[in-house]
Amino acid sequence: MIIKSATFVQSATKPSNYPPEGPAEVAFAGRSNVGKSSLINVLVGRRGLVRTSSTPGRTQLLNFFDINGEFSLVDLPGYGFAKVPLAVKKQWGPMMRTYLEQRRSLRAVVLLFDVRRVPREEDIQMLDWLEEFEIPTIPVITKVDKVSRNRRAKQIEPILEATGLPRDAFTLFSALKGDGRDEVWERIEDALATEI
Ligand code: GTP
Ligand code: MG
Repeated sequence: MIIKSATFVQSATKPSNYPPEGPAEVAFAGRSNVGKSSLINVLVGRRGLVRTSSTPGRTQLLNFFDINGEFSLVDLPGYGFAKVPLAVKKQWGPMMRTYLEQRRSLRAVVLLFDVRRVPREEDIQMLDWLEEFEIPTIPVITKVDKVSRNRRAKQIEPILEATGLPRDAFTLFSALKGDGRDEVWERIEDALATEI
């Protein structure tokens, strides 16, 4: 994928604020601090396109980006951060479900898992919605640089168990080292090219 342009379009919480339906779209989901924004920045090769933070839970909106004037990437709000106000937490479910259910342009969701963490309820909820709405899913295990190569197989067992997905469903990724970047792009390009 050659990136000619990558620009922030707008933020939204509800469908009336989404950009118009049109260009094929791929969204990125996962718990707070899992590395969604970092993954997008590595994919497009623009370090500062999407704000990343060491304070989890700061991105509570859907953020839409235009790539090459050809397709969109959407940074979805993270979940599961304890310090997010309850009112915001309560919005997460309906906000996410509505987007997944209604967004016609959506071609796939990249769902991120932290290599060091056991998936939680919201991760499984996401998988259930993706299945319910028949949205192709690209599962990614990220931050693999945090675990030595020979411990990885053992380390990801709880993720395979909780999700019920086979090992080869996952792309291993590191925003720090760039592992998995090409594979994630290939899977996104396949999804963008598929009419659903
Ligand atoms: P929210 O927007 O709060 O939901 O978080 P996010 O999922 O967008 O995570 P973000 O990309 O902001 O990354 C959170 C922290 O993890 C940052 O400090 C990143 O530098 C770090 N991080 C992200 N990906 C990786 C990775 O692959 N390896 C390592 N070592 N750190 C990473
Ligand atoms: Mg983010």
